[in-house]
Amino acid sequence: MSSIIQTQPLDVPSAIAQRRSIKTFKTDPIAPELLKQLVELTVAAPSSFNIQDWQIILVQDEAQKAALSAAAWNQQQIIQAPVTFVFAADASASEKNLNPIIEQALATGAWNESTANYFKTAIPQFQETLGDKQREYAIKDAIIAATHLVLAAESLGLSTCFMNGWLEDKVKEVIGAGDNPDLAIAVLVPVGYAAEPRLNPGRLPFSSNVSVDRIGNPYAG
Ligand SMILES: Cc1cc2nc3c(=O)[nH]c(=O)nc-3n(C[C@H](O)[C@H](O)[C@H](O)COP(=O)(O)O)c2cc1C
Repeated sequence: MSSIIQTQPLDVPSAIAQRRSIKTFKTDPIAPELLKQLVELTVAAPSSFNIQDWQIILVQDEAQKAALSAAAWNQQQIIQAPVTFVFAADASASEKNLNPIIEQALATGAWNESTANYFKTAIPQFQETLGDKQREYAIKDAIIAATHLVLAAESLGLSTCFMNGWLEDKVKEVIGAGDNPDLAIAVLVPVGYAAEPRLNPGRLPFSSNVSVDRIGNPYAG
């Protein structure tokens, strides 16, 4: 039995307000065209210099799901949900992505020759100055992409759960990247149809973590 397809996407504020981390999913599949739409909206995310330094692995195969769940402290969302997106961050992506990104932006007209020439030098220089922060910067981009996925999924009638509870080396082995030192795992996101109500654990008041101008000067709302 497929879940009912939601025909009218939720607007962004509604999707943000309604989203909850779902811990139990129906095993209903996601229609291939809907999954493709999710992937398109995920990679529409911005990234530093548009370098798109993520690797996104859609884990759907039952044996792969079982192995991924085992790498994630046996969390069952991965088994139940029809697909789990593994967001990996590739700290070395700028080397291979630089030229295609520049060519594409020139072709779309978004960047002119002088911008392209600037980026040809600036991007490798920036990566060089990052040093061992390259991993952290790649993870930021991957997390932004994951957030796009989560909100797009909610808007289109699906549910998700960001997941940090896993062992990186084991997840890398499952996705076939055990021997790649440049690849970091950023987050796992199972996607599917919720089998539980969306219960909101609530948020702290603004006064505890939103300030104006300087930290500790609470935003009153
Ligand atoms: C980065 C991140 C990692 C998380 N990891 C897990 C996880 O491994 N397993 C899980 O069940 N929930 C996980 N959660 C879900 C949080 O527990 C949940 O977001 C939080 O309780 C707030 O609930 P809400 O998402 O419904 O608003 C994670 C959330 C985030 C943002």
